[in-house]
Amino acid sequence: FRFFVWTWRLTYLSVLAALGYVTYQIYEGRNPKEQFDPDPNKKTLVILGTGWGSVSLLKNLDTENYNVVVVSPRNYFLFTPLLPSCTTGTIEHRSIMEPIRNILRHKKAKVKYYEAECTKIDYQKKIVYAKDDSEIKGDTMETEIPFDLLVVGVGAENATFGIPGVREHACFLKEVGDAQKIRKQIMDCVETATFKDQSPEEIKRLLHMVVVGGGPTGVEFAGELQDFFMEDLQKWVPQIKDDFHVTLVEALPNVLPMFSKQLIEYTESSFKEEHIQIRTKTMVKNVTDKYIEAEVQNPDGSKVVEKIPYGLLVWATGNAVRPVVKDLMSQIPAQAKARRGLEVNEYLVVNGTENIWAVGDCAVANYAPTAQVAAQEGTFLARLFNTMAKTDAIEAELRDLSAKQATANPDQRKVILEEINERQRQLRRIKQIGPFSYSHQGSLAYIGAEKAVADVSWFSGNIASGGTMTYLFWKSAYLSMCFSTRNRILVFFDWVKAKFFGRDVSRE
Ligand code: FAD
Ligand code: NAI
Repeated sequence: FRFFVWTWRLTYLSVLAALGYVTYQIYEGRNPKEQFDPDPNKKTLVILGTGWGSVSLLKNLDTENYNVVVVSPRNYFLFTPLLPSCTTGTIEHRSIMEPIRNILRHKKAKVKYYEAECTKIDYQKKIVYAKDDSEIKGDTMETEIPFDLLVVGVGAENATFGIPGVREHACFLKEVGDAQKIRKQIMDCVETATFKDQSPEEIKRLLHMVVVGGGPTGVEFAGELQDFFMEDLQKWVPQIKDDFHVTLVEALPNVLPMFSKQLIEYTESSFKEEHIQIRTKTMVKNVTDKYIEAEVQNPDGSKVVEKIPYGLLVWATGNAVRPVVKDLMSQIPAQAKARRGLEVNEYLVVNGTENIWAVGDCAVANYAPTAQVAAQEGTFLARLFNTMAKTDAIEAELRDLSAKQATANPDQRKVILEEINERQRQLRRIKQIGPFSYSHQGSLAYIGAEKAVADVSWFSGNIASGGTMTYLFWKSAYLSMCFSTRNRILVFFDWVKAKFFGRDVSRE
């Protein structure tokens, strides 16, 4: 009985503490403290982008040490791991967006934000050129922003490998707008397929959802789409039941190449059970408005070109370098051999420059282009900049002390010398910041039907797991990783809403 009472008390206290924490987070989020202007004589630090790399830098940066300016066409941070869930309405897109204004308003010193795209970086003149590309324009649409220090965190664009028709006919899955477009097109295909007198071939084509690219983006989207069909679509539109199909097309012999062999096999067998067709060794070469042309490798090694009709085509074949990054690379002789992005050293300084750093998908640092890498790079840079600012302050103090020492009497000199020694010790300690080293926490992917796969680092080993328990782990891991308490609450309620009421099948 005593055990029961204590368990009950502990549970009660934990719930109370959790509620108190959430209430405090909500209050703090709604009531930011007064901010002050940083000293105008301090260095100007320009940060490009509001993605994983740049936002993790901003989150950890002591903004009072610099005049910080953020330039990005997207005035919010996007929690990309849950973006595939937005394509079917399992999660509403606003639940995974965090306004950059909220993030910046909670910093100690003010930070300037310009909603604009950086069109060019002149690394020799130390100027960034920015253009307002939004719908509403003022008299000034273009401007120049000088910098002392620059962080490039503009991410990457969608790779199409120059395949004809991709940009015109396929949907990508990188931004909120892409997810909204896919959600609309799924329902458009369904409603058009049920239009009066539609021919059986056309119904089949319209209800054939093709995903190109068997990386984690393609796999997660295919899983989400089949869930949508199984749990909602076929209930509300039963006449599409026999014709709705999801196909995943991959050029390589298997999907999810970054996962262990065991998890690749698990994913492939799980897709088979879910009736998602996987077509490996199938490389798309051409895209038209109604079908894709793919080169299929037969088991005997011979190749044939096949036409695959589709209603919705989602293109998820990885990353390509953004034009602004390509242009910067072309200005720097040390980047002449770089192909996949800005080559950086172990402190993330862009090779061939002194005051430009690069983070995330636009940087080549021998790590995969993932959110995990970008976030750790951003945190590292914040530590580096905070340290650099402290070093500058101590060096200034040392200069003052040396000047004082020159005019001081012998007794005062002794005291000043001690102070100088102490500052030098501090300086040595601070300057001991090591190079960036990435710590891989593991890879996680949702594969549909309430199953996920995980390759998780555990001490010095690795644990590979797949299934429903892994799915619960995936859910709790991503919920805890959401940017803010607000995001966490919204995502949680979206999941509850989808479970109880189903996903919304109206086309906005
Ligand atoms: P991004 O987050 O892409 O941010 C780039 C920023 O730069 C954006 O704000 C953009 O608006 C801005 N920008 C673009 N052009 C300019 C310009 N010219 N001037 C100024 N700003 C500009 N990784 C994982 O580790 N785990 C996952 O589960 C995972 N899931 C994913 C799911 C999807 C659907 C996708 C697409 C990616 C996923 N990733 C995941 C990969 C991860 O999202 C990227 O690696 C990560 O976003 C890279 O961060 P970044 O800061 O380099 O770029
Ligand atoms: P990716 O580069 O991982 O995979 C793209 C796939 O498309 C490759 O397997 C490639 O062989 C295939 N492909 C390329 N051209 C093709 C063609 N013409 N025809 C058929 N197949 C073709 O790309 P993805 O999935 O967009 O991921 C990008 C980055 O984001 C990766 O680093 C990935 O790890 C990360 N990411 C991580 C997630 C996670 O951890 N859950 C989720 C989504 C992305």
